[in-house]
Amino acid sequence: MNKIVKLSHRPVNSIFSSYAFWQLFVFILLSCLLACSSQTHTDEKEAVSKDTSSSLTQSTSPDTLQIDLVALKERGQLQSTETVTIPYDPVFLKSKTFKAIPLQTILNTFSSVRHLDASQTQVIFECEDGYSPSMPLQQLIQTKVYLATQDTEAPKGVEWIPIKKNGHETKIAPFYIVYTEADPKDNSYKWPYNLVRIRLVPVSSELTVLFPKDERMVKGYNLFHTNCFTCHSINGIGGKMGPELNYPKNVTEYWQPEHLKAFIKNPSSYRNDCKMPTLTNISDTDISEIIQYIRYMKDFKTLAKR
Ligand code: HEC
Repeated sequence: MNKIVKLSHRPVNSIFSSYAFWQLFVFILLSCLLACSSQTHTDEKEAVSKDTSSSLTQSTSPDTLQIDLVALKERGQLQSTETVTIPYDPVFLKSKTFKAIPLQTILNTFSSVRHLDASQTQVIFECEDGYSPSMPLQQLIQTKVYLATQDTEAPKGVEWIPIKKNGHETKIAPFYIVYTEADPKDNSYKWPYNLVRIRLVPVSSELTVLFPKDERMVKGYNLFHTNCFTCHSINGIGGKMGPELNYPKNVTEYWQPEHLKAFIKNPSSYRNDCKMPTLTNISDTDISEIIQYIRYMKDFKTLAKR
């Protein structure tokens, strides 16, 4: 018994007195301190991050800026300053009143955003469900645009109530982009709800990857951009609500042409409870142009890191 106790004490004593032990101890202590300080450092920068500086979000372009609205709110930096009334809200389909902040006020708080050339910048809205519409920064800031933070009709203590859209319960929270003066029928203005992030990218980065070199494809590209891009990506660029259409396999490589056309025209005739809506504003020739563009892109596969 005695022997065992002695034996078990000896190595412990020798570890504590050894130089190597203290070296290891100091090393671990320093690593902890370093880890903690770099943690707070990234926390501070989280709300607006240049993509390349964050390991979580990589981008093809170092000029990309990302505004994390949820992080701003958690830090109490998104206090609504105004109550705005939208004469006809295209999402709620009636006149609506919201608590809101002028988007310009939010953008102005970031010096990196203030120094951007608006005419060369595209705004990409990123919604929680992967929906990701975009529009030119210039157009956005030339109109009265607000970040709505609360529905004034919601019960006390609640910011938003989900609404029914196309039979599905739809979450508007945490943020919704609204305009007091834009024509709700003008679909170049985007009204994203369930919004979590705003990304600002140079126009050229998106164009260089997706813009066709063959000018016969430009019409299809434009149609794709207005009608499909909000939900679908090509080469990893675009919305994430629907599947990627080019990488690694282009949809035209595994869908029969007539089915592809019929599916795009009426997705619910192929899949029950299909999450792709039936697009009413595009003609058969538009769909053909879009498919032609998508097929053309099969020879230009690359994967943009986002
Ligand atoms: C509002 C979002 C939305 C829009 C806009 C949209 N889609 Fe989709 N799309 C989806 C979703 C979601 C799916 C997956 C549907 C499913 O599997 O139930 C899908 C599926 C598809 C598929 C099938 C892909 C596969 O291999 O299964 C094709 C092809 C497609 N969409 C093409 C288009 C084209 C072309 C346009 C524009 C004219 C378009 N979509 C517009 C959301 C959208």
